[in-house]
Amino acid sequence: MELLARAQALEAQGRNIVHMEIGEPDFPTAKPICDAGIGIVATGNLFYTPALGLPALREAIAQFYRTRYGVTVSPSRIIVTSGASGALLLAIAVLIDNGDGVLMADPGYPCNRNFVRMMGGIADEIAVGADTAYQLTPELVAERWNVRTRAVMVASPSNPTGTLMPAAAMGAIAAMAQARGGAMSVDEIYHGLVYGDEYTTALRYSEDVFVINSFSKYFNMTGWRLGWMLVPENYVREFEKLSQNIYLSAPTPSQHAALAAFTPETIAILEGRRAEFRARRDFLVPALREAGFRIPVEPQGAFYVYADCSALCDDSFVFARDLLEQAGVAITPGADFGANAAARHVRFAYTSAVPVLAEGVRRIGEFVRQRAL
Ligand SMILES: Cc1ncc(COP(=O)(O)O)c(C=O)c1O
Repeated sequence: MELLARAQALEAQGRNIVHMEIGEPDFPTAKPICDAGIGIVATGNLFYTPALGLPALREAIAQFYRTRYGVTVSPSRIIVTSGASGALLLAIAVLIDNGDGVLMADPGYPCNRNFVRMMGGIADEIAVGADTAYQLTPELVAERWNVRTRAVMVASPSNPTGTLMPAAAMGAIAAMAQARGGAMSVDEIYHGLVYGDEYTTALRYSEDVFVINSFSKYFNMTGWRLGWMLVPENYVREFEKLSQNIYLSAPTPSQHAALAAFTPETIAILEGRRAEFRARRDFLVPALREAGFRIPVEPQGAFYVYADCSALCDDSFVFARDLLEQAGVAITPGADFGANAAARHVRFAYTSAVPVLAEGVRRIGEFVRQRAL
């Protein structure tokens, strides 16, 4: 965040900055969704919805699981939230009591550990590396599960690494959590942004997992603040009570707009954008390797490349800071995602068009050459 603020300050001074730090799609919300949003706003009927979400939207999400994954889920288990952020916060609030431990990968999405701490829990972070594609494995989870463990959190594809958890590992961890009386949450926010590899929802492996998703990334709706969660039937009432107390309902215009997110017309637009993200990844990964970064695992999804910069610097934070100041390229240092080998890693986001990414890589190459002199 400090680097982003600094990048914006430099831009205000007239500097041209290549942004490779921004974790949201650069595409505007698809027109059918905007039209649906405008339609409901025009009526003025913008009252609270039920806390669990508009029934029609919960039904549309259930239908989406049928068409996309061939999985049948009851709409009664679907909870519409204010982004995946709202879903993660609710899930942790429901599952965690003071002193409970939550297993999660390091590097990983930074808010998770903060949410756990906020609820009085303990984030038990497990260092993961290229050997496990930066994902937890059943062996790691079994080894680190302890008396205080209440839950294990997974994200697939992951932020910051873009890597998927293999299906067998997902199933084995779900079974282990259940056998040990704990819970598993799987953040599927980057589903839809996977570029070729086979993948499916964790719901296919277990009815007991808490699956989190969002309209932010694949659906390009970050600012609408809308997400959802699938929870085991016996937890629905707990989530309902908590959401009624905390925020009453997710934004009403956004929920109506999202009804247009699953139509064939919108999906066709989104699939075109997915192809563009894939082309960006296919450009960026070899270009960064050429510039001296080590990328041992090909990212399979999301819009991130997690790169080892240790051949180029001793400290990724200093590298990112100097790269911004001297070359006008903003990237994210590893420290944002945990403590594990953070000084050796940086994250690149390909949320800009290929020519912009190419300019970024050109500047990085020049910067690296200058430093080596
Ligand atoms: C892994 C992961 N989970 C959750 C979120 C939160 O997204 P939102 O609240 O916009 O749905 C993000 C945002 O970057 C993310 O990367």
